[in-house]
Amino acid sequence: MEIIREISMLRARVKEARSHGKLVGLVPTMGCLHQGHLALLAKARAENGLTILSIFVNPLQFGVGEDYEEYPRDLESDAVQVEKAGGHIIFAPTVKEMYPQGYATYVDVERLTAGLCGASRPHHFRGVTTVVAKLFNIVIPDNAYFGQKDAQQALVIQRMVRDLNMNVLVHIMPTVREADGLAMSSRNSYLSPAERRAALILFQTLLQVSEKIQGGQRDASAIQAFIVKEISSEPLATIDYVSIVDTEEIRPVKKISGRILIALAVRFGKTRLIDNIIVEV
Ligand code: PAF
Repeated sequence: MEIIREISMLRARVKEARSHGKLVGLVPTMGCLHQGHLALLAKARAENGLTILSIFVNPLQFGVGEDYEEYPRDLESDAVQVEKAGGHIIFAPTVKEMYPQGYATYVDVERLTAGLCGASRPHHFRGVTTVVAKLFNIVIPDNAYFGQKDAQQALVIQRMVRDLNMNVLVHIMPTVREADGLAMSSRNSYLSPAERRAALILFQTLLQVSEKIQGGQRDASAIQAFIVKEISSEPLATIDYVSIVDTEEIRPVKKISGRILIALAVRFGKTRLIDNIIVEV
């Protein structure tokens, strides 16, 4: 396993692998790896001859007052995990390598980024799509792997790839959860023990919603009201949004019909957590 910091060096490695007929898989991350990332890496390993995991805390996707500075960074421990999981390369560029002096180009997916996380984090998705487009251009992977936990991000990246005819297959892998149901996230490390316990309300509520839909509930506003009531009953939780949307345009729906994303963002103290389920009826 090798840690590469320069784009030119990474390109040379990719070129060499391709000359041996290897498929190239990319797992973009911001590091501080957990089981969710490792599941993406395992899938990438199984499907490609060269597996690259990028680690880059992308300043473009953090807003003013957000946690860019505090975001957990631990390249040493990440490297041990990638090595153990059989990943071949960690690409860990500096900010200057990715955004040199005079940088001026951005990728913006419209409409799909207006609601949900885009409403409370206005420039977030522009930062995500810009860095992911750059990573795709640098690596030109055959396959790229993202987690379902960031459901809106996954839909936005899939749309970018489709709209810009990027020649990469995007794989969205199921959310990996702790034994008690909390979705794995690097930001879980910010939670106090009490907040950590309180955060279980997210998945517990989503499970109940899933049961209600299986039981025939189709009224989106009734489901939304139920989620708000349940989560508000937890004193440490402050709702940012609860949204029930289609998975094409990410627009609110009135009826549960077809493929529907039920997504929420909730603050516990200073930590903002997201979670979601997709239902298909
Ligand atoms: O999901 C993440 O960790 C980031 O948003 C991503 C896709 C690596 C882009 O910085």
